[in-house]
Amino acid sequence: MARRRALYDGKAKTIYEGLEPGTVIQYFKDDATAFNAQKHAVISGKGVLNNRISAHLMTRLEMVGIPTHFLRSINMREQLVRQLEIIPVEVVVRNVAAGSLSKRLGIKEGAPLPMPIIEYYYKNDALGDPMISESHIVSFDWADPYELEEIVSLSWRVNDFLSGLFTGIGLRLIDFKLEFGRLWDDDGNLYLMLADEISPDNCRLWDATTDEKLDKDRFRHDLGDLIEGYQTIAEKMGLIPKGGIIQGGNIDEQLAASLAEIENEMAQGRRPRSILKMPPRKH
Ligand SMILES: Nc1ncnc2c1ncn2[C@@H]1O[C@H](COP(=O)(O)OP(=O)(O)OP(=O)(O)O)[C@@H](O)[C@H]1O
Ligand SMILES: [Mg+2]
Repeated sequence: MARRRALYDGKAKTIYEGLEPGTVIQYFKDDATAFNAQKHAVISGKGVLNNRISAHLMTRLEMVGIPTHFLRSINMREQLVRQLEIIPVEVVVRNVAAGSLSKRLGIKEGAPLPMPIIEYYYKNDALGDPMISESHIVSFDWADPYELEEIVSLSWRVNDFLSGLFTGIGLRLIDFKLEFGRLWDDDGNLYLMLADEISPDNCRLWDATTDEKLDKDRFRHDLGDLIEGYQTIAEKMGLIPKGGIIQGGNIDEQLAASLAEIENEMAQGRRPRSILKMPPRKH
């Protein structure tokens, strides 16, 4: 296979030049990091599960009219996505107190929030992704007020949809992180869409009956086997067969590849909704 050009080597993914102009390939690695990369491990199979979970969730979001960068699965670790100009803001939506919110404000983990909370963090590893407000975003022009309004409205819609989806399969969506990006069409119209990934790496998901943590907190706080948690989520989502596709660090590659195909059929079956048909936001 011809050598591809890596455009960006991140902590959890590598971004390669895409197959067509305007696209990039997201390669999901097995690397797990926490606490601003102070803790690191390679967990065999994590990338395969995140690739599959994210592809599925993005496809489902598209189906309800939320524009995303996802185009199609390529293989068990790679997906083709639209190349976007990433807005350097991480949007966190919280339904239940956990993590840094519990720590900062002294709220017991697991306490449902009176209403969902949205937070923003500046995407800057050197600064440790500091928390910011809407004023910072607008003042430093990381996004203009129109974009911010769209980001907030899309984030609430994603929360409503995902909360329902996970409730239906016995999981509680505690919180999650989103990234957004910009795309311009030939006429200079701007489109905002959901980027990056939605996976147990950046969602807190608890078992609805036992409150067992199934997400990356297992790695952060050594709560148990990470793959077991991620496979439980994927299984409940109907994405992998019972018993999983990863046993003792060994991936059933044939099975994983065939599952990527199923995902594509589903993505292609979705109501075609070209982003170019979306009403552009005029400034
Ligand atoms: N559609 C897209 N087009 C261009 N870049 C993207 C797209 N989706 C995600 N990215 C970027 O690709 C990178 C993905 O790699 P990864 O998540 O491993 O990064 P990271 O180490 O977490 O770094 P960062 O702090 O920038 O997220 C991120 O910087 C993310 O913002
Ligand atoms: Mg990232």
